[in-house]
Amino acid sequence: MRIMNDKHISQAVQILTNGGLVAFPTETVYGLGADATNQVAVEKIFAAKERPHNHPLIVHLATIDEVTNWARDFPETAQRLSAAFWPGPLTMILTKQPQVLDVVTGKQATIGLRMPQHPVAQALLKAFGRGIAAPSANKFTRISPTTATAVREELGTAVDLILDGGDCRVGLESTIVDLSQGLPVILRPGMISAADIATVLGMDVVASQAHPGAQPRAPGMHHLHYAPKTRTHLVASTEMVALLQQIEPEEYPIALIMCTEQVLPTHPDCHVVRLSNNPTAYARELYRTLRDLDQQGFRHLMIEAPPATAAWDAIRDRVLKAAAPRV
Ligand code: TXA
Ligand code: MG
Repeated sequence: MRIMNDKHISQAVQILTNGGLVAFPTETVYGLGADATNQVAVEKIFAAKERPHNHPLIVHLATIDEVTNWARDFPETAQRLSAAFWPGPLTMILTKQPQVLDVVTGKQATIGLRMPQHPVAQALLKAFGRGIAAPSANKFTRISPTTATAVREELGTAVDLILDGGDCRVGLESTIVDLSQGLPVILRPGMISAADIATVLGMDVVASQAHPGAQPRAPGMHHLHYAPKTRTHLVASTEMVALLQQIEPEEYPIALIMCTEQVLPTHPDCHVVRLSNNPTAYARELYRTLRDLDQQGFRHLMIEAPPATAAWDAIRDRVLKAAAPRV
């Protein structure tokens, strides 16, 4: 079912206006949207996702003009980044306007704002004319959906309408940069890199020191995140062959996600998926692949560790979390 015409957009606007939930495609991942000015509607997002309230939501906007409805200040850094990267996969954390609902910001003094690029998201935001609060449309700690089918699997009847805009082009969540503290800090790496941001701003950009047990409100720092249900391991490229030679028979069947073309010993119960060695193409396929493999009853999922270069930062962040030990 592909829902992209005007009739469905107006149906979606009707649902949002009445305080309902609409899942919609963005270029990164699908979002679970509600009217960001409607407390009861936003509460439904947390219920549908089973997400704790101290994890704030990103408000999605149709135009740059709307930024000052949500953010008290629109600093020069934010103006330059929005000019360079919006619409697109960048979220900016700014000091909030006093009237922004606590349920949206998790009672923080800041607000996350993003103007998405996907044509369906843009059509919806323009037609609705107000900010849409939207986290990724998955259950808390699970893999973000990059297809409409994945949204349905995650949320079922908890969502009133799913707009189907096809497969997400980027495939990983937006880069989050905090501009509320003066110096820009990357809170979540994404396919817009720290170097891309530093180039536009002409200043250094630091990455936050994510560590388990840190404030849960900092994105993705929860110990379990982006997580398949299958036991998932990150394996160094150079250790892959040796590891495969040691696996005990009862540990099969296993699935491997590879990012290099290295030759592996074959085994009838070892399923190998080769994603691209290009990070853009790899990112687009990662979540769909994880979700697909997670449904096939493997005993283990092994992910070949991506190269230790900046172009793979966002991917490395997600696969590290997918393979984090379960507490
Ligand atoms: O690509 C994306 O960003 C997708 C699409 C739908 O736009 N959205 C998304 O939302 O990934 P979510 O809620 O799954 O992740 C947003 C992260 C959360 O970890 C949250 O803690 C953080 O952003 N966040 C939101 N507002 C914040 C704020 N004011 N300060 C710090 N972190 C914030
Ligand atoms: Mg999420």
